[in-house]
Amino acid sequence: MKKYILLTGCAGFIGFHLSEKLLKKNYNLIGVDSVNNYYNPKLKYRRLNILKKKKNFKFLKIDLSDRKKTFKLLSKYNYKFVIHLAAQPGVRYSLKHPETYVKNNILVFSNIIDFIKEKKLKFFYASSSSVYGDSKSFPKKESDLLQPNNIYSLTKKNNEETANLYAKFYGITAVGLRFFTVYGEYGRPDMFILKFLQSVIHKKKIYVYNKGNHFRDFTYINDTIEMTFNLIKNINKFKKGNHIFNICRGKSESLRKIVSHLILLTNYKKIIYTKSFNTEVYKTHGSNNKINQYFKKGRNPFIDIKSGINKTYKWFLENQNLFK
Ligand SMILES: NC(=O)c1ccc[n+]([C@@H]2O[C@H](COP(=O)([O-])OP(=O)(O)OC[C@H]3O[C@@H](n4cnc5c(N)ncnc54)[C@H](O)[C@@H]3O)[C@@H](O)[C@H]2O)c1
Repeated sequence: MKKYILLTGCAGFIGFHLSEKLLKKNYNLIGVDSVNNYYNPKLKYRRLNILKKKKNFKFLKIDLSDRKKTFKLLSKYNYKFVIHLAAQPGVRYSLKHPETYVKNNILVFSNIIDFIKEKKLKFFYASSSSVYGDSKSFPKKESDLLQPNNIYSLTKKNNEETANLYAKFYGITAVGLRFFTVYGEYGRPDMFILKFLQSVIHKKKIYVYNKGNHFRDFTYINDTIEMTFNLIKNINKFKKGNHIFNICRGKSESLRKIVSHLILLTNYKKIIYTKSFNTEVYKTHGSNNKINQYFKKGRNPFIDIKSGINKTYKWFLENQNLFK
């Protein structure tokens, strides 16, 4: 019987790119997404239409918080393993809408982990750099203390701890991917670079928190996918347990530098520098030493931030209709 990879969140930013990569490598894929309207679903359908052109892709529209429906529909197929990326992202949004994080990050995770336990499957799942919280020592290693300081990162820490317990008590094999500020083509409109570019076309003011005096380990989407794919290829090396990896470039950039480069590209200067939110961390900067063990020698170096932004900008200009 045909065996698929089950990938949740396939209409999302990272899920779309990872699906494309797996389809190119001739894996058979079942992609699942609820296509919610956290941001404009037009972008999600654009991504899905690209994936649907591939013969080895099948799409199921499911809200994974519906446990009965999830088990019923997913049980119709056989899987090699599962990649769980579906979630409610966004730190600031979690201040106003904590309940959607409980539903889409905790309840959904509980359904997926029970599914993989029942079907005896290995799985990869998305965590986040935000689990480290505010810290003074960098770069962050996977074994460092976790101090989430908002509801979003708390749900991600809860996912990791749930995977720890399931590994200990039920012997599952899980691989947790701590993504750091991913950006690039088909990116998330609620994240800084695309927010900036949308403000340009709508001639809106651009708010830069903490006067741009904060730092993020911006990781270009293709680098993110390459790192993740290398882990996926090595799935047989992972034995029972919950294995955590930072997925990051390993270099922290100031928001000011990003803003300067975006101004240079767009010549748009309606920037308002404002104070910081205390749910936002001052800096993210991960160590990628652990994941680098899984790369073959001679891997392409990470793209530099300016080239990554240039590529994102080029894509944005060609796809402005998605944001109007
Ligand atoms: N993009 C980043 O920089 C970043 C950083 C850290 C962690 N992450 C994590 O990586 C994963 C993917 O993030 P992304 O940036 O692609 O986000 P995204 O919002 O673009 O994709 C998530 C997808 O999950 C789907 N989804 C949400 N709830 C669902 C449900 N109940 N049932 C089915 N589908 C549902 C959404 O419709 C969406 O298409 C998430 O778990 C996110 O928390 C992303």
